Amino acid sequence: MVPELWQVSRVAPNSPGEQSGATIVSEDTWTAMDHYVIEKLVPSDAALEAALRDSAKAGLPAINVSPPQGKLLHILARTQAARRILEVGTLGGYSTIWLARGLEKGGRVTTLELDADHAKVAKKNIERAGVGKVVDIRLGRAIETLPKLLKEKAGPFDLIFLDADKPSNPEYFEWSLKLSRKGTIIVIDNVVRNGVVLDEKTTNEEAKGIRRMNDLLSREKRVVATTIQTVGMKGYDGFTIALVVK
Ligand code: SAH
Ligand code: DHB
Ligand code: MG
Repeated sequence: MVPELWQVSRVAPNSPGEQSGATIVSEDTWTAMDHYVIEKLVPSDAALEAALRDSAKAGLPAINVSPPQGKLLHILARTQAARRILEVGTLGGYSTIWLARGLEKGGRVTTLELDADHAKVAKKNIERAGVGKVVDIRLGRAIETLPKLLKEKAGPFDLIFLDADKPSNPEYFEWSLKLSRKGTIIVIDNVVRNGVVLDEKTTNEEAKGIRRMNDLLSREKRVVATTIQTVGMKGYDGFTIALVVK
């Protein structure tokens, strides 16, 4: 139960007359607002645009982070002065490029991908963006690559972005902790999924994975974490951000 005083008031509705009684807060508004944010703050960028264009051409699903989310990852990388970044789930390398551009000099992004076709498209996109030399794409099942990274002493990572198969998130989170240090930030994408996660009896494997990860997070003394719900051009979803504190 949420304490009563924590139940804050909602943002005031637009004043009448400013907009007629129509539903002004719709999915179209979320998308239009993202487009506005992109115009103002996320300037168009040839390499990122080409990455999305070639991903679509190759038939990859358009499930990359949105441009404002990509920029958030970039800002987090810079906040961390990151030299080691781990990403689980490369797809066409769109988020990878955002992350790689936030690296400190001498830094590296290690990104894990299961699908060889995705990795091939990503490699080209990443090279065209000029970050090929600082990105290491590791092909294979993440659950098999993660223990290898530990063995190789590839960590500790400064920033970790979990964005692959959602049912495995609890396992990926456990591996992330092993590959972390005090101060590592772990971001987990797609943790709200239209709110299906709320249903404790859900049979949806993604939602079950997210609920299991939240159970882990709520017991885990090594991290402080929160979840932010998002709306925008990707619909209604959210991300979890966890800071490793010991
Ligand atoms: N981070 C990307 C989107 C990733 S989509 C971006 O925002 O641009 C999820 C990716 O995870 C897909 O390419 C999928 O092939 C990959 N994936 C799914 N299961 C995986 C697994 N078990 N190990 C590694 N990658 C996996
Ligand atoms: C899906 C995966 C993602 O990583 C995402 O950001 C959105 C959707 C998906 O598998 O549907
Ligand atoms: Mg995602």
